[in-house]
Amino acid sequence: MAQPDSRFVATPSGKPRFTVDGKPFLVLGIQLNNSSGFPAQFHALAPAIARSGANTVMAPIGWDTIEPEEGHFDFSVVDAMIAEARAQKVRVAFLWFGTWKNAKMSYVPAWVKRDTVRFPRVVDADGYAIDALSPISEESEQADAKAFAALMGHLKAVDARQRTVVMVQVENEAGTLGADRDHSPAAQALFEGTVPAAMTTASQEPSQRASQGSWSSVYAERAPEAFMAYYTARYIGAVAAAGRKAYDLPLYVNVWPRQQPGLLHPGDSSPSGGAVSWLLPQWKALAPAIDVVGVDNYDTNVAPYTEIAEAYDIPGNPLYVPETGATMAHARHAFWTLSRPYAVGISKFGIDESFGLDGSTPKVEPIALDYGLLREAAPFLLPLRDAGHVRAAIEEDGMANVPMDFDGYDAVARFGPVRDGYGGPRGQGNADLSGRVIVVQAAPDKFLLAGASANLMFAPKLGTAGHVELVHVEQGHFKDGQWIVERTLNGDETAFGLILPPEGGSLMVTVQIVK
Ligand code: DGJ
Repeated sequence: MAQPDSRFVATPSGKPRFTVDGKPFLVLGIQLNNSSGFPAQFHALAPAIARSGANTVMAPIGWDTIEPEEGHFDFSVVDAMIAEARAQKVRVAFLWFGTWKNAKMSYVPAWVKRDTVRFPRVVDADGYAIDALSPISEESEQADAKAFAALMGHLKAVDARQRTVVMVQVENEAGTLGADRDHSPAAQALFEGTVPAAMTTASQEPSQRASQGSWSSVYAERAPEAFMAYYTARYIGAVAAAGRKAYDLPLYVNVWPRQQPGLLHPGDSSPSGGAVSWLLPQWKALAPAIDVVGVDNYDTNVAPYTEIAEAYDIPGNPLYVPETGATMAHARHAFWTLSRPYAVGISKFGIDESFGLDGSTPKVEPIALDYGLLREAAPFLLPLRDAGHVRAAIEEDGMANVPMDFDGYDAVARFGPVRDGYGGPRGQGNADLSGRVIVVQAAPDKFLLAGASANLMFAPKLGTAGHVELVHVEQGHFKDGQWIVERTLNGDETAFGLILPPEGGSLMVTVQIVK
């Protein structure tokens, strides 16, 4: 049995792999709502958490909860939540709601909120202090870092031997809302000064790398956002480093992305200073104690969803979606996300609305179906996925036939009823757009199909003679990475395609090309 352990392991691909207890781990998460990071709520939600199929609960911990008085820490809530997670047999990612929670300071303790001299606020362009701590303040940074280190030290003391807590999110959707940048006199002086070399050298844009000068001369109209990103990344980097020194556990941040059409003004319609995609390399360089920059992705349209996700799936930063929504579109996009090599996982925000606080609503959410199909398959799936042998096909409005390309084979996922037409049989689409499938090429002639509302067909690769014959088709499921056969399928069950029903299913299919 591997030692309790949780870490990102470097791989030759340049993307680190998330592992727990020595094995690749896929985060299939469910997030407690912001005011449910307490033992009673966690306990009441146990049936809903079980029904969600999640293997990891994302649980907020407010700075105001653990340090109500400066220097006096109370970890009883943390301890009780760890005990609750162990009873529910789920892992935990704690979310550190410190200086930033959705680009505001709502979770800082009252003694921080009240002392605006020691813990200065961001001042907007009109000279008003807003409800966000300034990222240029060393005093605030040190107070947050001290509290975070105390939390991490406590986790080490109570959890290092069991590792129920597998990762910690540092802050939440950091950045500032309500001002493009800090306009206080101290911040103004820094803004008029020279851009630090650590910022310019980390840029992806050659013109910025070569530049020296004031923020405005280097970044023009993007200067306020770049300025805030520099100080926010450094601040969070310092908080993370202090926490990591106390307990070496994987750390990540989550980003409120700005690529969504219409959200173009940093600090106005989205936070200024977060790790938005053009500032991602700078953030990675300035906050090296953070393993992964995750992106909260609620987009229901496939084009912006994948564009946002791809911007965070770069060398050194595997894709991680710490927050997504509850709709069928989110569940489809989850399949796409989880099929990306080295993807850390995904988590649905939140749980209270969809299941009721007492967890009694017997509703199976679309993403629960995904989790049910993938959770036990993960040990089998992940090594093949990271080696490039996995494809996902998802249905979209007007996109009911999705091709996939494998070594030696082409495949097509057809969604909805399959009817003959010009060019052969075609999927007509599902009314609820629920079609999604992950296909794993487990061996040259062997494929795992896991998904819902889909009908698959294989063909020899273009240019290869012959046709594909089904040699053997098993319906089954996984238990701890082992394939368990339920029955073999033949005759009527395979004559019209390899069918994954609306309630979801898994097939292990052996094929051959007959010439
Ligand atoms: C994003 C935040 O990170 C969450 O904590 C929560 O506030 C959701 N938005 C609500 O949609």
